[in-house]
Amino acid sequence: MPFDVDKARADFPILSRIINNKPLIYLDSGASAQKPTAVIDAMGHAMRHSYANVHRGLHRLANETTDAYEAGRETVARFINADVNEIIFTKSATEAVNLVAFSYGQRLKAGDVVLTTEMEHHANIVPWYMLAERSGVILKYVPIRDDGSLDMDAFESMLTPEVKVVAVTHMSNVLGTINDIPAIAAKVHAIGAKLMVDGCQGVVHMPVDVKALGADFYAFSAHKLYGPTGLGVLYARAELLEAMPPYQGGGEMIAHVTKDKITWNEPPHRFEAGTPAILEVIGLKAAIDWLSQFDRSEIMAHEHALYKRAHDALTQINSLRVHGEAEGKGSILTFSLGSAHAHDVAQILDRYNVAVRAGTHCAEPLMTRLGVTSTVRASIALYNTEQEIDVLAEAVAKAQSFFA
Ligand code: ALA
Repeated sequence: MPFDVDKARADFPILSRIINNKPLIYLDSGASAQKPTAVIDAMGHAMRHSYANVHRGLHRLANETTDAYEAGRETVARFINADVNEIIFTKSATEAVNLVAFSYGQRLKAGDVVLTTEMEHHANIVPWYMLAERSGVILKYVPIRDDGSLDMDAFESMLTPEVKVVAVTHMSNVLGTINDIPAIAAKVHAIGAKLMVDGCQGVVHMPVDVKALGADFYAFSAHKLYGPTGLGVLYARAELLEAMPPYQGGGEMIAHVTKDKITWNEPPHRFEAGTPAILEVIGLKAAIDWLSQFDRSEIMAHEHALYKRAHDALTQINSLRVHGEAEGKGSILTFSLGSAHAHDVAQILDRYNVAVRAGTHCAEPLMTRLGVTSTVRASIALYNTEQEIDVLAEAVAKAQSFFA
């Protein structure tokens, strides 16, 4: 049965917003997705009926909220086929990568190598750069091919014994490229290194099984997965977490504190210092439960058809150049329009209520590789429609006529 986009859209109150007598066309879900009523209601319900701090109280509300928070962890674990103790809640996916670079990174020494790639978001570059600055670790970039795929030959040739961590995105937030994580994991593990996967876009657009992928670490954020902001998820293999030191100090991450000696709690609590994002975890659980009513392969087919429709229409425009044509790529369409500045294009599209992202997309090394300073990105989500894609195409054609 095909995905029922109208039924799914009806769950997103914001999508019925009318601006200047025209509907909103939201094609910026790669930056942050809109929220279904189920998420809004779950967070509101908790605040209205059952809210307290978690893991600290003995009263009814504290126990109910702790159960709701831990139920969120169980839902996330099931969603990506992890064990419950392998799920750490952070404030963002960025913080999740920082946690790994800081904590697991303490095992690395001067001269060890971290491989990242030319297509990474800054969140999967900068924490490793900071580790390199702190400890003399060497950071290297696996190149991409002209079609936006990862250069697997170059990758293999860079896998020297000094490589200890490989940090790669599951799906590029600019190119839409979907990397072959199981193949990468096999090569990384063959040299005894560990694999950090940025799953921010990947987890939204395809089912994720961290065990089948072979990821040692997998990070994503709730807000791109139709959940709330302020919450990231780090999956890390249990035996790695066991041996990792805490990232931040404070409440909940300790077993015992005396003036002279402090011992650490077990994972995952060792890595959750301070009051966590309680309401956001409740919201993420609601988002995953909501998403789970659909067949993910039907969503993928729907998004892919929209991508193809957009690609077919936009590539009719002679001056338009698509960035990212790798086989099997996901539903992110990034482009340049002649020599027009991406910000100008986005502002013209905004007049048609078409919301896209323009700029470097937090991927400056990739912009340099592509030979551009900024690009326009339309990122497609499950709630987008054919009609919206047609308005995008019309609006881009109009924008083009301004610059012709
Ligand atoms: N990482 C987000 C994006 O790609 C913010 O837009």
